[in-house]
Amino acid sequence: MKITVIGTGYVGLVTGVSLSEIGHYVTCIDIDERKVEQMRKGISPIFEPGLEDMMIKNIRQRRLAFETSYEKGLAEAEVIFIAVGTPQKEDGHANLTYIENVAEQIAEHIEKNAIVVTKSTVPVGTNDKIGEIIHSRLKADVNISIASNPEFLREGSAIHDTFHGDRIVIGTEDLQTRETLERVFEPFDIPIYHTDIRSAEMIKYASNAFLAAKISFINEISHICEKVGADVESVAHGMGLDKRIGNQFLKAGIGYGGSCFPKDTNALVQIAGHVAHDFELLKSVIKVNNYQQSMLVDKVLNRLGGVTGKTIALLGLSFKPNTDDMRDAPSIVIANRLAALDARMKAYDPIASGRASQLLPDAVEYHESIEDAVRGADAVMILTDWEDIKHFPLAAYQTLMAEPIIFDGRNCHSLKEAEQAGVEYVSIGRRAVIPAT
Ligand code: UDX
Repeated sequence: MKITVIGTGYVGLVTGVSLSEIGHYVTCIDIDERKVEQMRKGISPIFEPGLEDMMIKNIRQRRLAFETSYEKGLAEAEVIFIAVGTPQKEDGHANLTYIENVAEQIAEHIEKNAIVVTKSTVPVGTNDKIGEIIHSRLKADVNISIASNPEFLREGSAIHDTFHGDRIVIGTEDLQTRETLERVFEPFDIPIYHTDIRSAEMIKYASNAFLAAKISFINEISHICEKVGADVESVAHGMGLDKRIGNQFLKAGIGYGGSCFPKDTNALVQIAGHVAHDFELLKSVIKVNNYQQSMLVDKVLNRLGGVTGKTIALLGLSFKPNTDDMRDAPSIVIANRLAALDARMKAYDPIASGRASQLLPDAVEYHESIEDAVRGADAVMILTDWEDIKHFPLAAYQTLMAEPIIFDGRNCHSLKEAEQAGVEYVSIGRRAVIPAT
């Protein structure tokens, strides 16, 4: 089938490349000329395992092309995916300007009947609005139908998630559209759940809000664990054995970040507000997360009695491992707070330092290795559970610091390892390990 994907951010690019991999002819449109130039050469603008290889293969096999022109990119399309950003506005609402512009471009440039599928996360009812914009401008002899196909992929495992997802959700209003989209997605061999458009839009928000709630829940439990002498890792494990609860998204830490959870939870509070529903539970989820992101600094302050003039090593800067994405990363909140307290920071991240340096305060110095960041520091804060950071032996901090104190915001190490290494080790929801003097 001939497919056009508009927008080549995480969602759009991964969608386009994956659809070409299963045999469709895909054109990806982006208005950024430089980015399109790079993508034509098979260079991905984002760090995503497996993506570039798949791009190169499908460009060579002539199933994948990149375009800046809506006119060229849309003329032949049978199915059009909208995957442009819906950034958060100051007031928490989703900004729909890009989506609306794209709807106008589609109306202006399509030459034959097409299905317009929204992949971007949009408030309930937006697909109807997109339909209205397009219909009001369409040429007399062409028609469109509208569908919603929310995206559930995670950054860092986006290709894997696209090919091994738990479900594909398709919201449609007519049988023909439903059947055509079923044919588009069939080769993925993933269960397809068909529903109406508004429910599909809601499934995305409700899923992300639920996962965020799981994280905030276990983070709240972690505070109580610390006070009553329980271990949150054991508690989460024991809870997760109940299939009704499940063992995923129960990892206590310094809170969720990224491009989806913070934005989508805020947007859902707004959506609820518009229909006069005060979504108290979700507001608490957000509040807990905001606190969680900076709470590790409180632990550092309590232990060191202040950080003015002290050097803190920050290990990991991206909002999670396997991505260079810094959007809403807890490291931003933490570095800003430490900078305001006049601390010096030495940071290491295997790939996000470049992006981080544009966002973090000047007081942060960047280093190429864990050793360089940690050498001579007064305390270490582990902020992202990258493999190399997780596997950096606690005993090695002994040789790099005068008095090794590690604040682990991701519970990367066992308490036993900390005891054996003879370091001071403060983690989340577990007792602190203090070496015998
Ligand atoms: C998320 C959703 O998983 C995905 O379905 C949706 O489409 C987009 O948002 P992503 O933002 O890529 O994907 O990251 P994810 O792996 O879900 O992690 C989000 C954040 O939660 C990270 O900051 C991570 O560190 C944190 N997290 C995750 C926890 O703190 N504890 C957990 O148990 C799981």
